[in-house]
Amino acid sequence: MSDKIRVLLPEEEVVKRIREIGKQITEDYRGEEVFLICTLKGASLFACELAKRIDLPLTLDFIAVASYGSGTQSSGEVRMIKDLDESIEGKNVIVVEDIVDTGRTLSYLLEMMKKRNPKSLKLCSLLDKPERRVVDVEVDYKGFEVPDLFVVGYGLDYAQKYRNLPYVGILELDV
Ligand code: IMP
Ligand code: MG
Repeated sequence: MSDKIRVLLPEEEVVKRIREIGKQITEDYRGEEVFLICTLKGASLFACELAKRIDLPLTLDFIAVASYGSGTQSSGEVRMIKDLDESIEGKNVIVVEDIVDTGRTLSYLLEMMKKRNPKSLKLCSLLDKPERRVVDVEVDYKGFEVPDLFVVGYGLDYAQKYRNLPYVGILELDV
């Protein structure tokens, strides 16, 4: 099996956009502290790069929920795998996601975070696939909109592979 991957967003473009988002967040929250929630595993590469570009007092925490199996189809089922280590009560929370697809995972996660009484709650996603949206989710900080194709790289996987690609590519399955 040899999957083909076509480059969609080259590394330089991704890194440049992350710098811009970091700068925007730095301006928007000036004088405040931010609490970044990185959703594992997909957003890990994005969140680390982004955190370095935010020039504010910052806490980085991780959460893991499962929404996808090992294929390319969303099951619609969302389960908590790893909760945050810290309380977010009274904090300026930014949830950092790799991609908003149907929106199911995020709407579940955001509802859950809202109940914990943060001071503010925003969503930052590297990628957005608006054509696939089933549940309404507003992305406050967005890297790129992508077409309705399966993408991998920069943290995003197919069956746990390709997360390490330094760019975002379109996966063409060899079937
Ligand atoms: P949603 O609940 O349908 O919005 O799915 C969100 C999650 O599905 C993301 O956090 C990804 O882990 C995964 N996902 C959705 N689309 C893709 C894709 O094109 N490539 C890799 N993972 C994806
Ligand atoms: Mg994810």
